[in-house]
Amino acid sequence: MRRPLVVANWKMNIGRADEALDLVRRLRPSLSRLDKTDIVVCPPFTVLVPLAEVLASSPIALGAQNVHAAAAGAHTGEVSPSMLTGLCEYAIVGHSERRAAGETDSDVNAKVLACVEHSLRPIVCVGENLAEQEAGDTDAIVAGQVARALEGLSPEQVEVCVVAYEPIWAIGSGRAATPAAANRTMGLAVRGSLANQFGESSAQAVRVLYGGSVTSSGISGFMAMPEIDGALVGGASLTSEFADLVRLADDSTM
Ligand code: PGA
Repeated sequence: MRRPLVVANWKMNIGRADEALDLVRRLRPSLSRLDKTDIVVCPPFTVLVPLAEVLASSPIALGAQNVHAAAAGAHTGEVSPSMLTGLCEYAIVGHSERRAAGETDSDVNAKVLACVEHSLRPIVCVGENLAEQEAGDTDAIVAGQVARALEGLSPEQVEVCVVAYEPIWAIGSGRAATPAAANRTMGLAVRGSLANQFGESSAQAVRVLYGGSVTSSGISGFMAMPEIDGALVGGASLTSEFADLVRLADDSTM
């Protein structure tokens, strides 16, 4: 059984300590009562330390939105996985907004390997753009991204990873994929690619999330699907709506 997981991706929002602490203090009471769902908040780097202090004794975990693949060195403006050890449990890797800014599959792969080496669980983002979807290339694009991102991991190592299927056209657009279409791609392309590379048992152990315009009104439909283990949430994670969204995800779990 895979444990449901809902991840908040704050992106470049709520980066001041007072704002971040205010939101987390509002979310914490209701989120702390839920026991079937893992909850992760990925804020900007600037607020990881104060949030780690406030969330120390809560079930809400923290994640980074990016990492650099190197352990240390002359990389101005970057943060390495080893610097996040003890602060974060997860790190988003290969978000389409970073891929659009030049991040390649091989960069994503190097970051995934670095995360696993430093005991951070990578949340590896994959997804097709609108032209690829319209051309019927979704499965090939997504399966290829999954395979290249996870190259070099052992079957045991891949089981700590999370894959987030986020169709680029659905991100921030208000136009989510249908639960059935997302479930299909996640089963065939994501889990199918995992099974080819790492075997069926590891493929079944990896949590696969849907992302792209998930809201509190849409979450239950996604959680009802067998291949969908949770969600990566952008816009709807920036307000107290996120507490409702996670509660509904938790309610949908047996
Ligand atoms: P959205 O963002 O929920 O605002 O569409 C999701 C994401 O980019 O991870």
